[in-house]
Amino acid sequence: MADYEDNKQKNSFTLFNNETGKSYDLPVIKGTDGPDVLDIRKLYQETGMFTYDPGFTSTASCDSSITYIDGNEGILRHRGYDIHELASKSEFLEVCYLLLHGDLPSPEDKQKFKDVITNHTMIHEQLVHLYRGFRRDAHPMAIMVGVVGALSAFYHDSTDFSDVNQRMIACHRLIAKMPTIGAMAYKYSIGQPFVYPKNDLSYAENFLYMTFSVPTAEFKISPKIVKAMDRFFILHADHEQNASTSTVRLAGSSGANPFACIASGIASLWGPAHGGANEAVIKMLEEIGDVKNIPEYIKKAKNKNDPFRLMGFGHRVYKNYDPRATVMKESAHEVLEELNKHDDPLLKVALELERIALEDEYFIQKKLFPNVDFYSGFILKALGFPTSMFTVLFAIGRTVGWISQWKEMIEDPINKIGRPRQLYLGKTAREYQQESTREKKSIFNWLWK
Ligand code: SDX
Repeated sequence: MADYEDNKQKNSFTLFNNETGKSYDLPVIKGTDGPDVLDIRKLYQETGMFTYDPGFTSTASCDSSITYIDGNEGILRHRGYDIHELASKSEFLEVCYLLLHGDLPSPEDKQKFKDVITNHTMIHEQLVHLYRGFRRDAHPMAIMVGVVGALSAFYHDSTDFSDVNQRMIACHRLIAKMPTIGAMAYKYSIGQPFVYPKNDLSYAENFLYMTFSVPTAEFKISPKIVKAMDRFFILHADHEQNASTSTVRLAGSSGANPFACIASGIASLWGPAHGGANEAVIKMLEEIGDVKNIPEYIKKAKNKNDPFRLMGFGHRVYKNYDPRATVMKESAHEVLEELNKHDDPLLKVALELERIALEDEYFIQKKLFPNVDFYSGFILKALGFPTSMFTVLFAIGRTVGWISQWKEMIEDPINKIGRPRQLYLGKTAREYQQESTREKKSIFNWLWK
């Protein structure tokens, strides 16, 4: 957290306690873009009260200079550069450099960065045995959590991250090794041999090579598909303080090593409300099956008593079209065209579902638009990935965001361990009861029946 003297505007909010007649001034801190914040760091000390915000709908957990989102306007910028520009003009490793270091690289630095990442793509051979411990049908995200967490057992020389060199080695290793680990998770699940990375391939092409090549045949892939894969990673690179990034920051605030922190981010991303939604979208579309069934599912999505939600729709921040979904939709059409799969019946269901939802009063009123996950599955399905691999690809793209946010937190001179408080609604103090005096009610008449 930066020192705010220079940012504090003269403005402040005054809290008035009606019971005690006391008032408290809360300084307002202005960012370079987006909403101002109320500095409540002294609130508990001065008032004896906490703020209450489950799900952090109105809470800034940190300050950051990496990514800016305007949810109402549907704007996403990384270090000031709009996502549409980066997706059309940049490449994933250049975006990685931008997120890590704050500016676009010079041609020399760009090549050096690419060389560093390329030379860290292999994983320790002992790690190969870790895969053998999983059942073949293990979900690839379970393998990712395990193998990435295990990296901290192999890289003792880059876990003292107070040393800038070790910190950067850890960042580079994670960005470089995620595609290798993800591709191996896929190969393991289909019983094919692992394919080692090749230094003469680009980041995205190397990943596709490790995933889809087999020792018995030459690997060929269209440059358009490689570009679509690279763009997919750019669109997933970072997204402010989302659930998995906040998990990485909280884990890192205790001083846990970066490999364990990224493993915690992968675990959080897996949830269907977050990165697991891309897998859930395709499963939902398969369940809907045909455009004639859409009205029934729209009705279910609107029914408060029905847990069904339109996966790939809605967002905590975007109350407009997710700018990544726009690019992803265009990319999906390009990939389906390139692979001659444009007649995918699920695409027809998705396009009609989007059209109907965007005209429906419920979705309009609640500002529910397609998010990054609604169309991404079409690209991955067309490329041949099973739905179980979809969130693995999200994790590969997001690793640079996680590690950049972790690095920003570690390098902040006022970095503190994250320790939220609570509103306690439990039992007040009571004495121990002897067994004979306890109530007869039992949990076993409903639990473990
Ligand atoms: C990602 O945070 C990020 O930046 C995440 C992400 C990233 O890059 O890191 O962008 C990636 O996680 C994208 C989101 C992927 N998840 C989904 O597509 C799952 C479906 N979406 C929802 O579960 C939901 O929209 C969330 C979880 C994304 C957002 O939920 P919020 O902000 O907590 O909003 P909410 O659940 O309080 O919903 C507000 C209202 C509710 O109705 P009311 O109680 O006000 O009557 O909208 C309704 C909800 O019932 N609603 C939906 C809905 N999403 C919200 N109704 C039907 N279908 C939906 N998809």
